[in-house]
Amino acid sequence: MTDRYAVIGNPIAHSKSPLIHGMFAEQTGQRISYEAIAAPLDGFAATIARLRAEGYKGCNVTVPFKFEAYALATELTPRARAAQAVNTLKFDGETILGDNTDGAGLVRDIEHNIGVLLEKKRVLLMGAGGASFGVVLPLLTTYAQLTVVNRTVGKAQQLAATFAAHAHIAGLGYNDLQGQHFDVVINATSTGLSDELAPLPDDIFASPALAYDMMYGRDTPFLRFARAHGAQTADGLGMLVEQAAEAFYLWRGVRPDTTPVMAALHLQK
Ligand code: ATR
Repeated sequence: MTDRYAVIGNPIAHSKSPLIHGMFAEQTGQRISYEAIAAPLDGFAATIARLRAEGYKGCNVTVPFKFEAYALATELTPRARAAQAVNTLKFDGETILGDNTDGAGLVRDIEHNIGVLLEKKRVLLMGAGGASFGVVLPLLTTYAQLTVVNRTVGKAQQLAATFAAHAHIAGLGYNDLQGQHFDVVINATSTGLSDELAPLPDDIFASPALAYDMMYGRDTPFLRFARAHGAQTADGLGMLVEQAAEAFYLWRGVRPDTTPVMAALHLQK
């Protein structure tokens, strides 16, 4: 019996998830299939209903359906509840379990693959949209000192207030960053898509510092700015592989080795 999984998004054609999960399955000897499915913008719930009826065991969910997946889940993991968004669904009888593995993937990539331990580090998270919400709780569990900065200051303050019960987070505007330095700066804004750069001060990076762009597959203005100001840089490819590994673990109870998968994807670039 081959268990079936899929990633659902719109658009979805360029997703690397089928390739990644295919490599995980081969490596671990798990008999699964994994395909990319484009759901119509108004057809996410219907697509999930179809997959469940056809006996699929779960799926990954990407843009723009992560909030709908959150609403559809009948049970949520704490990190999905905190993210208010779901990127992984597991179907089990009547239960639709919603999880969010994005933040765990980010933390694992930074700490394990790149080798920067986040405890006590001054971490700046840029953006206060869905991408930021998705990673805040796992970032806080590392005991990093977290600051969130956003163009619309009110949204950064709102995000900080949402997580105030877990830890103190500062919610700031870009003007408030003058004179502050950070060990790790994470770009969770959508600026890379439009080749824009958020107004970071020139001396934002401590020495040494890591600049991490959650987007992958393109050299963003943020990464160029970071390199020009002496920071080590990383794009989000490692996060993509690690969030997939975390989803694979949720479904199959087996943790794949991400190192050869990362190497294979780097060769593809
Ligand atoms: P996502 O779900 O990918 O986070 P989003 O909810 O639309 O998408 O959020 C995009 C984020 O990028 C927001 O934090 C946005 O800032 P605002 O809340 O002020 O809109 C940020 N962003 C987009 N363009 C930006 C720019 N040119 N400079 C700074 N921040 C920008």
